[in-house]
Amino acid sequence: MIVTIDGPAGAGKSTVARELARRLGFCFLDTGAMYRAVAWAAARQGLAWDDQTAVAELAAHLPLVFDSHRILVDGQDVTLAIRSQEVTHNTRYVADNPLVRAQLVALQRRLAHGRHVVTEGRDQGTVAFPAAECKFFLIASPRERARRRWQQLQERGESMMLEDVLAQQNQRDARDARRACGPLTPAPDALIVDTDGLTQTQVVDTLERLVRERGTADAWE
Ligand code: C5P
Repeated sequence: MIVTIDGPAGAGKSTVARELARRLGFCFLDTGAMYRAVAWAAARQGLAWDDQTAVAELAAHLPLVFDSHRILVDGQDVTLAIRSQEVTHNTRYVADNPLVRAQLVALQRRLAHGRHVVTEGRDQGTVAFPAAECKFFLIASPRERARRRWQQLQERGESMMLEDVLAQQNQRDARDARRACGPLTPAPDALIVDTDGLTQTQVVDTLERLVRERGTADAWE
């Protein structure tokens, strides 16, 4: 069974998807981390962002390992490095590259093959897994999402004005939505879940209930 969770930055997808996967006993795919890891590796190799073929070639052969809560590139733990502001900024060039998207969607399908999976990103219900049994699209108001992101930055000791976080987020949303290939948009059969005013536990409770209602008995076998 495939459960997809898409939505804009800061809607709480990662934490919710990870916890939902744990509760269901499913694998968890963090597809944003894949785009980030490619951006990290491309910058390290000094590739030009407009050399779409070279960046896609890198994506095709990147030795990427998801090990519990860690992400390794060629054996190096990049879990924290790929969350830096610099990598967040550079990831847009990778995410806008249709050749990279094709490589990463193929990787996502290979990883999910024959498994029960909760996968989160922007295009999981639309492009990567259009036949997924259960699709969610998480939303929250822009200010609430920016507030959550601002709080995370505070906890990591990175100070930034809330208004600046909001402005950057608006830019990222607009870019994700107008991308020609794999844009941020709900699949027609996705359930839209508004997380404003809900705790993460309440969101996971809701999603878990809906998945269990939809899943047939053999989905867990
Ligand atoms: O979800 P996260 O913020 O880690 O994603 C990083 C970036 O990767 C997003 O801003 C988005 O542009 C891109 N992305 C994407 N498709 C996905 C997942 C992430 O384009 N499936």
